[in-house]
Parts: sequence; structure tokens; C-alpha cells
Amino acid sequence: MGGIGGCVINNPETMGKTLRSILIKQSHLGFDGTGIAIIKNSKINIIKSPKRAKEFVQIDHLEKLSSNIGICDVRHATHGRPHLDNTQPLDDCNGEIAVAMEGVIWNYSIIRDRLSEKGHIFKSRTDAEIISHLLEDYIPKNGLLDGIRKTYFELDGSFSFAVIHSKYPDKIAIVNKDSNVYIGRNENGIYFATEIDAIRDLVLEFLKLNFDKLALITQDSVEIIDLKKGIPESFEWQPIAEAPKGNVPGGWPHFMLREIHESTLWLKRAIMTPQKVYLDLAASILNDSKKIFIIGCGTSYHAGMISSYIFRELAGLSPTIIDAAEFTYYSLKEVKTGTTVIAISQSGASTDVLRAVSKAKLHGAIIIGVTNSLGTPLMFASNVYLPIGIGPERAVPATKSFLGQIIALYQLIIATGLQNNFLNEKEAKEIFSHLYKLPRIVEETIAMTQDKAREISEQLYKRNSLYVVSRGLNYPIALEGALKFKETAYLHAEGVEAGELRHGPKALVYNNFPVILIMPKIPDAVEDSYKLISEIKQMGGNPIIITNKGDKTSRKLSKNVIYVPNVPRIFTPIVNAIPLQLLAYYTGIKRGSPIDVPRGLSKAVIL
Ligand code: F6R
Repeated sequence: MGGIGGCVINNPETMGKTLRSILIKQSHLGFDGTGIAIIKNSKINIIKSPKRAKEFVQIDHLEKLSSNIGICDVRHATHGRPHLDNTQPLDDCNGEIAVAMEGVIWNYSIIRDRLSEKGHIFKSRTDAEIISHLLEDYIPKNGLLDGIRKTYFELDGSFSFAVIHSKYPDKIAIVNKDSNVYIGRNENGIYFATEIDAIRDLVLEFLKLNFDKLALITQDSVEIIDLKKGIPESFEWQPIAEAPKGNVPGGWPHFMLREIHESTLWLKRAIMTPQKVYLDLAASILNDSKKIFIIGCGTSYHAGMISSYIFRELAGLSPTIIDAAEFTYYSLKEVKTGTTVIAISQSGASTDVLRAVSKAKLHGAIIIGVTNSLGTPLMFASNVYLPIGIGPERAVPATKSFLGQIIALYQLIIATGLQNNFLNEKEAKEIFSHLYKLPRIVEETIAMTQDKAREISEQLYKRNSLYVVSRGLNYPIALEGALKFKETAYLHAEGVEAGELRHGPKALVYNNFPVILIMPKIPDAVEDSYKLISEIKQMGGNPIIITNKGDKTSRKLSKNVIYVPNVPRIFTPIVNAIPLQLLAYYTGIKRGSPIDVPRGLSKAVIL
């Protein structure tokens, strides 16, 4: 995953400078490796390093590169840790082809095994490398265009990729299955990138490459081909507009809002990222365990808490969920050989998590790491790790990574339940069929809740405190929602178990005190929630309800109802998390909070 770019230009001396500029402007798309490939004297030349773009572009000879044709890549590692071998672009066995890919290929291991058996030598552990080896087989027999089409039809996933081939030294082929690809031109050549902002200053006109299309670009031409039909199609250039005002690439005001909206695409990829072999391995470790702990901090702890409910429901296992910082004091004595710790951390670097992991290992525990960041201490400390594959997250308030963690953990639970026969194939298939619909449902949730969240934030921003209340599977969402208000809106908020509200917290509910109630999808809990809302109203509180669109009663009880799509109960945490993220975001905007960089916090809490 990451960002790709490149150009075919008439002045070879400007190649280094141009690729450098594209890389810098896409540096936020991946921190785990940077590389370029050019064609020089009919040979592919790849320069790469497992470093961030900002460090990579310091290489002395980069500016001096001379070529008319080049591609580049920044990498977010999911398949293979940050390492020179795993850094893109990647070539084929003969060094004639270089490929830069953005996204994920779901069925890569089957293809890789087949190609390996045929004698292809793989240099990396990436999913992307299968593309150059498929092209190596297909282009000589089918020509460039049909060779790429044949390759494309073998790949299942969500991706775009760019190819250069030493036998076609005037062309770049760019394929878009399910990503963003912008192509632009000026009098000196044709340029492309994943982010429009990466080429905005270079070009006069641009086009967006649609899905299932191939673009063949030369110095002064662009041909767009429908990959399914194999025939060229017409297109129109659009004048490039000035960069929209916004602090964040793409014209977004904040990374947090961009990342909430990006959840749709990235969830699709998160579903495709964990590999069956590692899910099965982790599942067998869990099924052989005498005791299981789940640990994490903050948002990761809440994701773990949700999974602890689902482990009981879908795998028949009863893990203990405990905050990583508290683990040493509460649980360490119980840890011995036969204990497994599932350690969850977006950054893979939180000291509290690493400390707990290292102490657990000393007591004989096996570690299953769930992380969005490979090459990190958590990855190295884990016996098995599962990448979340949700792409880089820049805002300190975690949003899309929370959804990604839930998805990774659900996949682990299903694998575990299938293995120990708690789930049968039919049940697992049914759950997966809903899981695959989630990216679309997330998109629908954002569309359904955004305006209402903005409207309700008008009532919240002047308050000093609020409660977020729910039960069952959505109790962790109440905790997570409250955390989002604290860090994003600088507004004190407390997550409260719905029943617990009556045992003390209710005393503050007067004078329009906001109580955000996430309606649980459990029949008896629903009835009790309606009762609770009436009690909140009687006390003078302001109930704000998040519920599914089929709920007719809530609108009679409050004017502040946020409707979310109706999904099976186990997926309600996903759809309920989004309006809370948006409420916290818009309330933060009204309160003038710095949103992406709350004071005193950092993306990884390293002590
Ligand atoms: C909340 C947030 C933090 C982190 C916590 C753990 O939005 O970002 O609470 O979730 O610091 O971080 P990781 O997951 O990187 O270990």
C-alpha cells in the first residue's frame, strides 16, 4: 500500500527533480520504504531504500538522474516488513520490468506459489511482486497490452499499479482497479500520481483514471483502454484548478476528517490484508492456549474489548481483556507457559503495550500482535503478527485504525471458531458475507450521519461535560466515543454502562446535560434503554440517540436522533463508532481545538 507516481518527459535532466517532488508530496501515504525506477540505455535502473521519502530524497545522485521515463513509490508495509527487498518498485527475474503498486492483492499467495513452482525467483515477501512476474510470463506471448490485461484478470484485490518495461522504453502503463490515479500533462510531458496534489503544480490539464482502465502514456500522448473490453476509449482533459484550501492533502481541513472518510476504501483493504496462513496459525495458538489475555491502550484497548465479547460468541473462548498499562499489576501472576497474549497497537510502539508484552514473554507467554505498523517493536516481539492494513493514520485521534483493528480481530475470531468447530462453514460464510458489505455500509453511515452530527455539535460545544452510554457490544463504543470527545474536542466525557448510569452518574443529569445513548441491538436492552431515556428527560437531561434506521420509537423520545444503517448486531460497533467520531470532530471544530494534534498527546505514547 502507499502511493505511486511517475512521468514521461522530454527533458531527461529534470527526471530526478520531478520524481523527488512527487515523492515528497505523497510522503504521507507510506513511511516504510521509498523507491524509483527509470529506463536508461534500454535498461531498468531501480534505486530504493526502506526509508521515508523525506530521507530517501536526500540521496545525492537523485537530482542528477537522467532519463525520459520513471516511476516512483512510497510504501506502507502490509506484506513483508520495511526492508530493502520489500521496497518498491519491484522487478521480474530478468530485470526487464519494474512495477510500483498501491493497494493490496488478495489472492497473491496462490499466484506466488504457482509462479514459484514454475521457477520464478521472488526477492520480496510483498504481494506486489507477483505483478512483475506475471507480466514477465504474459508480455512476451501476448504483447504489452494483452499481457497486462491477462495479468490484471488474475489479480483479485483493491489496487493500482504502474509498469515500465525496458523493451518499451517510451511508455508507462498504469492500471487502476480500485484506487486513485490522476494523470496530467504540460508541454514537457505526462505525469501521474495517487494524489492529485502531487502533480498539481506540474501540469496544466488532468484526468482521473477510472476503475478497470489502463492508461498507456508516452511523452506526448495518453491512451485509455477499457481493460474488460480491451479497446481504447475517448476521454477529456480538465483544466487543473488551484489547490483547494485546506491544511491536509486533498483539500481536507484535517487528517482526522480525511481518515474518517477514507475508512470506506481502507476497510475494503483491511478485509483483504490478513493472510489465511497467519490467521490459521494464530487461531491454532489460541485454541491450544490455557489462558488468553487481550491487551491494548486507549482506542486499541476498546477494540480489544469488543473482540472479547465476540470471542465468546463466535469462538467459544473467554479471553480476559485488560488495559496494557494495568496488565502487569492485575494479570502477570497468572501468566505462564500456555498463556497467549493478544497485543493490539496501531503504532506497534506504545511503551505500555511493549512493557506488558516483554513481561508476559518472560513468564512464558506467546504473543499475537495486531498492528498497523510493521517493522515496529511490537511486530518483532510477536510470535505471530496480523497487519491491520488500514493505511497510515496521521491524526492523533484514532478513527479508521479502530475500524481496521475490529476487522482484523473479527477475522482472527472467525478463523479460531472455525478451527475449533464452534462455528461451521455455513455460519462463517454468512458472517463473511456481511463483513464484505462493511465498506459500502461505512460509506452509507458517513453520508447518513455527517449533517446530523454537525447539527448536534452546536448543542454540545458549550457544555463542560457529557456521557456516552450503552451496553453489551456497544459499551466499548461508549468508552471510545468519550475518549474521542476528550482528545478531539477538549470536552470532558465519560463512557458509562447503561445500567450503571443509575448507580451514581445520573446525579449530574440535569440542566440539559447531554447523554449520548447508543441503542443496543439486544431486545431487552432496547426496552430498558427507552426507559432510561425517559428517566434522563425527567431529570432534565438532553438525550441524544444513536440508533438504527428501523427504530421508530426513538424519534418520539428525542429530537436528537442520529440514524445509522441497520446491520447484524455484531457489526453495530462499526456503524455506531462513526457518528461519535464525527460528533467529536465537529464539536472540536466549534471549540477551536487543534483536532489532529491534541496537546500533550502523540501518535505513539513512548515513555
Ligand atoms: C485515541 C488514541 C490513543 C491510542 C493509544 C494506543 O484516539 O489514539 O488512545 O489508541 O495511545 O496507541 P497504539 O494503538 O498505537 O498502541
